[in-house]
Amino acid sequence: MYYPDELIREIREANDIVGVISQYMSLTKRGNGFFGLCPFHGEKTPSFSVNEKEQYYHCFGCGAGGNVFTFVMQMENMTFVEAVQHLAERAHIALPEAELSPKEKQRALRRERMLQATKEAARFYYYQLTRTPQGQGALQYLQKRQVTEAYRRKFGLGYAPVSKGGLASYLLGKGYTEDELLGAGLLSGKQGRIYDRFFNRLMFPIFDSAGRPIAFGGRVMGEGEPKYLNSPESEIFNKRRNLYGMSWAKKSRRDSIMMVEGYMDVLSLHQAGFDNAVASLGTALTKEQAMLIKRYSDQVTLCYDSDGAGTNAARRAIPILEEAGLKVKVIRVPGSKDPDEFIKVSGAQAFEEVIQSAMDPVAFEMMILMQQHGTDTVEGQASTVHDMARRLAQIANDLDRELHIRDVAAKMRVSEASLKEEVESLRRTEGLLEYSRSRGRREKGKEEAADDNAKKLMLAILIQKPQVYPAVRRWISVQDFEEEQDETTQAAENNWCQTVANYIFPALQAGTAPQMADVISCFDLPERQEQVLALAQLEIPEEKQALEKLVTETVKSLKMQSLERSIRSSTDMETLQEAIEQKKALQHLTLTL
Ligand code: UTP
Ligand code: MN
Repeated sequence: MYYPDELIREIREANDIVGVISQYMSLTKRGNGFFGLCPFHGEKTPSFSVNEKEQYYHCFGCGAGGNVFTFVMQMENMTFVEAVQHLAERAHIALPEAELSPKEKQRALRRERMLQATKEAARFYYYQLTRTPQGQGALQYLQKRQVTEAYRRKFGLGYAPVSKGGLASYLLGKGYTEDELLGAGLLSGKQGRIYDRFFNRLMFPIFDSAGRPIAFGGRVMGEGEPKYLNSPESEIFNKRRNLYGMSWAKKSRRDSIMMVEGYMDVLSLHQAGFDNAVASLGTALTKEQAMLIKRYSDQVTLCYDSDGAGTNAARRAIPILEEAGLKVKVIRVPGSKDPDEFIKVSGAQAFEEVIQSAMDPVAFEMMILMQQHGTDTVEGQASTVHDMARRLAQIANDLDRELHIRDVAAKMRVSEASLKEEVESLRRTEGLLEYSRSRGRREKGKEEAADDNAKKLMLAILIQKPQVYPAVRRWISVQDFEEEQDETTQAAENNWCQTVANYIFPALQAGTAPQMADVISCFDLPERQEQVLALAQLEIPEEKQALEKLVTETVKSLKMQSLERSIRSSTDMETLQEAIEQKKALQHLTLTL
């Protein structure tokens, strides 16, 4: 946290959420809330709601949600601190100098300088491309590939000259240190013997979704390996979390994000009016990238190259995207390797038609299998049907599965009943196998999930019904939200519950009700904020008896887990004894409110 909590609260209270949001869009009062068209995804009927009393917003369509700070962050592409500053100014509240620990200050400053250096490098490359004789070749190359001047500018394309020390001496001359430039991946080598990382390459600056250049992809001019050289991972460039083109695609009015493979594809699609195109950065699609897409759209259209590699990449990407809650469609560009080529040959209108013919993932799988096995022979057809049955068996939702079975049966001209029988029998055997194979692992997973649910439920109860606190305070405290030390990834994922607990318990002890909008302010990451916000959306019963039952069960479950944790890790007899006693007492617990 950069500014003191009280100040953040003061700024938040001085900026009524309805007033702030109304500056960006129109809200209508309905019942005890305000509604409008969600600014974060395209929609025709309003599902974006603003809660004036609790000072937060939530979109029932895309799941976006948060407080006045997150709204400004998303609308204005600002960081949390920038949003705080913006809203302080709006309310005429004076801010002190931001408070950072010396170490944080140093790290922030280094990052800031690396970002600045990357921006200067982009300018340098741009200048080399447009203003120097050595840039001529690359400029002609762009012309040959029909990149217009407007889009060359918009994408900030540049050229890294053949000579190996141009950028180094330029940026060192501007006062950046070797260490900073090596850190930003602009230079290579060891200290003392360093050189430009990129030379004789057409340079594509890679922007983060807020539009700041954070890295480069450089295409070799002429022959050479690798064809594309990318900036390495660094303090400012996380490949897993960024998508090339997102800073523009997020503003698109189209109803999906289109994933393609190459930098050139993104450029050429945007130029042809498909301003929703993005590409992952020379690596397979990650979960983080899927979540990034989900922030801006509910749908994704995969348009990978029609070769084997592209097909496999699409097959691997589908489950990742679906898991992030995205509706996936797949398109294939007929007759060309990639969308860039297709548009050059057939034009934008033809590509629009290709989009119209998008397949769902099941139809896509069927197409691939038919190509693999062939459709001329009975054997080929049989193999396709059998493999399809396996794919259909993976569809978890009964209704979806049934509809797809019907569709595939019709297309393959087999009876629906026999396909269904095969699919269901596969599901039965697969289910059993899976269960015996991973019994141990699974049960542990289940336990963790239950533990997690109890934590979330407890927090939701305490936030929504703070009057419950006196009844549970004898049993539950902040310590019950702690994570076991050794659980690395899981712990990092989950300790947001602990952060929330740390925030609300002191308030509850002091007899005040924790405010959702304040709790949200503890987090900078929108994903986290959404998780926290979901706590306010959990339905906690109003009726006394039902509430008592829920509270009792939740306390039991949460306390039980944390006692077991302390039994596992306790080193002295006394704590062990006490934990065992408490566990016994817990079994007969009934809480009354
Ligand atoms: P492609 O070779 O299909 O790229 O690789 P492209 O954009 O279509 O290239 P040209 O300019 O039209 O020939 C797809 C993507 O894979 C990554 C890059 O992100 C590229 O855009 N890639 C490819 C690399 O990172 N390194 C490579 O050597 C090749
Ligand atoms: Mn290409």
